[in-house]
Amino acid sequence: MSVETTPATDPTTRGDRPGSLEELAKRHLVMNFTPAGKYRTDALPIFVRGEGCHVYDESGKRYFDGLAGLFCTQLGYSHGAEIGEAVAEQMRALPFQTTWSAAHPPAARLAAALADLAPGDLNRVFFTSSGSESNEAAIKLARQYQISRGEHSRRKFIARRVAYHGTSFGAMSLNGMVQVRKMFEPLMSGVRHVSNTKRYRRPAQETEAEFTAFLLAELESLILQEGADTVAAVILEPLQNAGGSLTPPAGYLQGVRKLCDRHGVLLIADEVITGFGRLGSWFGSAHYGVQPDIITFAKGIASAYVPLGGLIADDRIIEAVLDSPAGMYNHALTYGGHPVACAAALANLEIMRRLDVPGNVAATGTTFAAELERLRQNPVVGDVRGEGYHRTLELVTDKDARSWTSERLPAAEFVDQHLAPAAAEVGVLCRLAIDAEGNPLLQLSPPLVADADAIGELVGLVEQALNRAVTSGGLR
Ligand SMILES: Cc1ncc(COP(=O)(O)O)c(C=O)c1O
Repeated sequence: MSVETTPATDPTTRGDRPGSLEELAKRHLVMNFTPAGKYRTDALPIFVRGEGCHVYDESGKRYFDGLAGLFCTQLGYSHGAEIGEAVAEQMRALPFQTTWSAAHPPAARLAAALADLAPGDLNRVFFTSSGSESNEAAIKLARQYQISRGEHSRRKFIARRVAYHGTSFGAMSLNGMVQVRKMFEPLMSGVRHVSNTKRYRRPAQETEAEFTAFLLAELESLILQEGADTVAAVILEPLQNAGGSLTPPAGYLQGVRKLCDRHGVLLIADEVITGFGRLGSWFGSAHYGVQPDIITFAKGIASAYVPLGGLIADDRIIEAVLDSPAGMYNHALTYGGHPVACAAALANLEIMRRLDVPGNVAATGTTFAAELERLRQNPVVGDVRGEGYHRTLELVTDKDARSWTSERLPAAEFVDQHLAPAAAEVGVLCRLAIDAEGNPLLQLSPPLVADADAIGELVGLVEQALNRAVTSGGLR
């Protein structure tokens, strides 16, 4: 019998084939939400290292990471060695164990730390490895809780238009973003959507209080129309990311809380982005003074240095589930509460506390807002909005109509052919998207360790990119 072995030095096992890394990636790597052009015709950046708020590509070009990876590297890029020490120590002590009828020190400690940070009676933590998995877990917990208290018909979820909650089937079903769900339908049944809190294109004379009243009336009317006894939960982000930093109007989140209580519906706060300091508080719900029943999280808990997510539930929800005939939370993931990921998160939280990262965001967030306000002078900056270190510029060619109306230069062309190349040229990473109404959005969510100078640098680069794009697009 001959046994084939792969020599340790076989270059193919190390991904070390001839050809540039860009070629290897384009040929073999299937990338997240990445258009065909990036595989075939366009340049594909290969980032090789990071420091502070900056990342460097293969050629040594430096970029300000104005998106903190993907709204997630709270600590930026200079804390890998310290978090790596905690990871290495855990690898040596116990590289893996489950949280299946057992526990281990990092998961127990991290769960307790999160219970301390989370508002109110949110004391029970289930771990996952991503935001999608966290929302999936929340869907199942909400349904199981409702069944546990005899409310078997409460199976529906209410989410908001344009919201993004993930890509797995349950989480994707919650999405109010048509383009990420349409081709995969039919999805999980029983999801309905209400308006989000985008105010920019609401009637000019509408007051904030009127807007809040409109949103709450719409939500309550949907609950009643569906039959309150069919609704398990409302899920929302305290500040909605998709659609561009949609802040809640005054009284809105408190009003949603009251409606949920009135109709026996759970309130789930998706804090995958707003958790861990992004708005200047540990959690976005606490930032806005609202108490959800379940918080879902991921990304920033470990500054995304390792994959980790989860949910934090109110004591009464877990107690009801444990007391029910099922006698357990009927859900499991092999990697849920992975010791190495939990050790990384504990180290991350320790550094965030030491540096008072939420305090930095709270203090410097106002400088960020003021710097961005300056950009309203740019011919295409129509709206500037957001909170803390989550900010968005909405771009328009007609500021009175609040719309991108140019027929000569459609919004997508402006973004693809002018703004994206200009941002790459000046060396700034940000999110560029076209919103549901057709206006380009430029989203910024820098590392939470960025100080006032770094924020000044970021806004300066964005200004340069916008100026170049406006000039090359002939929009002056
Ligand atoms: C608000 C929100 N929820 C959930 C998710 C899904 O997280 P993941 O990509 O880790 O599955 C995201 C991802 O960006 C998100 O922004």
